[in-house]
Amino acid sequence: MPTDHVHKRVLVAGATGRLGGLVDVLLARGHMVHAMTRDPASSAAARLRDAGGEIVFGDFDDPASLATAASGIDTVFATGTAHRARPDGELRHGRNIAAAAAAAGVSHLVYCSGDGAAPDSPLPLFRVKHQVEEQIRSLPMAHTILAPVYFMENLFNPWNLPALRAGVFPSPIPVDMPIQQAAIADIIGLAALAIERPDEFAGKRITIASDEPTATRAADTLSDITGRTFAPDQLDASVLGPGLRALFRWLEQTPHNRRHAGPARPLRRAELAHLRKMAALAGSATQKPVPAASMPTWARARPQSGTRPRRATCGSSQPDSGGNLE
Ligand SMILES: NC(=O)c1ccc[n+]([C@@H]2O[C@H](COP(=O)([O-])OP(=O)(O)OC[C@H]3O[C@@H](n4cnc5c(N)ncnc54)[C@H](OP(=O)(O)O)[C@@H]3O)[C@@H](O)[C@H]2O)c1
Repeated sequence: MPTDHVHKRVLVAGATGRLGGLVDVLLARGHMVHAMTRDPASSAAARLRDAGGEIVFGDFDDPASLATAASGIDTVFATGTAHRARPDGELRHGRNIAAAAAAAGVSHLVYCSGDGAAPDSPLPLFRVKHQVEEQIRSLPMAHTILAPVYFMENLFNPWNLPALRAGVFPSPIPVDMPIQQAAIADIIGLAALAIERPDEFAGKRITIASDEPTATRAADTLSDITGRTFAPDQLDASVLGPGLRALFRWLEQTPHNRRHAGPARPLRRAELAHLRKMAALAGSATQKPVPAASMPTWARARPQSGTRPRRATCGSSQPDSGGNLE
């Protein structure tokens, strides 16, 4: 297959999670992918093995396993774990994988942090993400930090499913307030680009926002596309845990048009168009297009029932896995 890029040996940590579709894209682009997991016997690992990935054991809490996993690797891609391991776990995990990559002589680390990471954030989650980023910047290793905003796929998180099943489009903030969102397909597309083009991406921190619909507009879109009516309504945050309540308060109090007033900013329309073109090219090598992801495009890319993510773009997400609206 003619190629415009160098084939690399890439370690994907978090391969069984929501960004696991990156494994498929990299394999399709001819890279050798080591998919890291704590449970090589899981069904998610079996899927990655079937797709052509080499499954390697690794635990962010076990530095020796990370040293082994990172050995002989050109590029490491890693995600955070705060939603599972809480902020103190994410800090430990992020520092461990970054240190292991640097010690192994990996030439490029692409790390998925999050928009909002800042030393003075009111949320412990975002303060910790900033600390991990600082650690990465301090290491003698090229790095790219991806900082996506709120995932579009959060719509199918477990706490939203009862509302969706009842014909309600649940919103974490007031329904007429725009909320910047990133489609996982765009994050994966950008991660693949960064991995292939370290000269362009090293040293950069890239905020990723795909669209900024209100819940009212998004509900109309989903209704049009599925043929079922969804009425927008703000979630009752009082029934959620303190971490989610704080996150939703932050989303509401930090409107999108103020979020990126500083140097961190969402991709401009032209940049997004470029990203989507590149992502589509990545897909065309494999006949598995990575769809562009404005809210309507994203919604259209999902099955009619709006139930599960497409595997090639969204990985095998635990939060998504129960997303049956029937
Ligand atoms: N949700 C959002 O709106 C949002 C917004 C911006 C940024 N982000 C960021 O996006 C990333 C993905 O988040 P997510 O919550 O959706 O993750 P996720 O898909 O639930 O994935 C969790 C992954 O982490 C791995 N993992 C967990 N603990 C581990 C450990 N101790 N050692 C090694 N691997 C471990 C799991 O692998 P195994 O279980 O197979 O070991 C799994 O593949 C995170 O960095 C998150 O902060 C999320």
